[in-house]
Amino acid sequence: MKKSLRKLETKCTRNGSFLSDILSLEINIENIKLRNPFILASGILDVTPSLFFRVASSGAGAIVTKTVTLEERKGFDNPVITDAPCGLINSMGLPNPGIKYFVNKYVKSIIDKIDIPIILSIGPSSVKDVYEMSNIVLDSGLKWIEINASCPHVKGHGLTVLGDESMLGEIIRVTKKKLSNFLIFVKISAHITNLAKIAETIFSSGADGIVAINTLRAIAIDIWSKKPILGGIFGGLSGPAIKPVALRCVYELYQYFPEKVIIGVGGISSWRDAIEFFLAGASAIQIGSVIAFKDLNIFKELNDGVIKYLNKEGYDSINEIIGLAHRF
Ligand code: SIN
Repeated sequence: MKKSLRKLETKCTRNGSFLSDILSLEINIENIKLRNPFILASGILDVTPSLFFRVASSGAGAIVTKTVTLEERKGFDNPVITDAPCGLINSMGLPNPGIKYFVNKYVKSIIDKIDIPIILSIGPSSVKDVYEMSNIVLDSGLKWIEINASCPHVKGHGLTVLGDESMLGEIIRVTKKKLSNFLIFVKISAHITNLAKIAETIFSSGADGIVAINTLRAIAIDIWSKKPILGGIFGGLSGPAIKPVALRCVYELYQYFPEKVIIGVGGISSWRDAIEFFLAGASAIQIGSVIAFKDLNIFKELNDGVIKYLNKEGYDSINEIIGLAHRF
């Protein structure tokens, strides 16, 4: 009641003047300040130091790196990407130079020079992996890790880890213990039927938040050669095709864990999509495939669109709309 009265007052004083309009979408994820809740998702860009700066100057609130593994990985043979109705299918195969090289060569050279948080995506395949990876990350200047427990096309990583709940729990416990001052998020997949149970394992093992969702395991077949198109055969479907699935996962996670931080990702292509994710319960969102179509301008479009929406609807901050779709 108090809240709706305050809103009415705000709307009245705004009448004609717009003096109290909000100008910023700044949020805090636990102890880390983000200038806005729009984060570059892992995997879409091969994030080299110059790209880190381009993404930051395009208006992103934070950057998730490509997933790195303990050892270097070559990735799958070409083609590694193909289009699909309303999206893309990628089968990169987690190509990366290995965590040591990536952190020493890329992260350390920019971490103090860039004005937005860098989130390191790691793709362990075992508890031992994550123990060694944590040692490398410890003094890197990083403060935020995203554990990739959802890549749908690389055996032994991603989905394999998510499918082994006791290993997943141990991976999170070891990471949190070794990197106790870091935020530890886990990126999950929609390829599970026991979302609440897995989320419970993730939070009770010490994770600070969940990122939902990764791409959906998919395939494309060339009718003339009569063979799968992608070098890795299977890939991950992203883009608008998966948005309703991602939104459903965020909505369900918020239903079960309304006090926890959920970051939404999957097919978000416009400020309207972004608002849907906030209403479903996301505290922030990640942006991926749309960059292939709209370039990095999407970050400015999201900022402008969401600010206009909040002002039009009479809200003072993005926090006021998180989870609102659950009130009925
Ligand atoms: C990749 O680099 O293979 C994609 C990462 C992912 O699907 O998690």
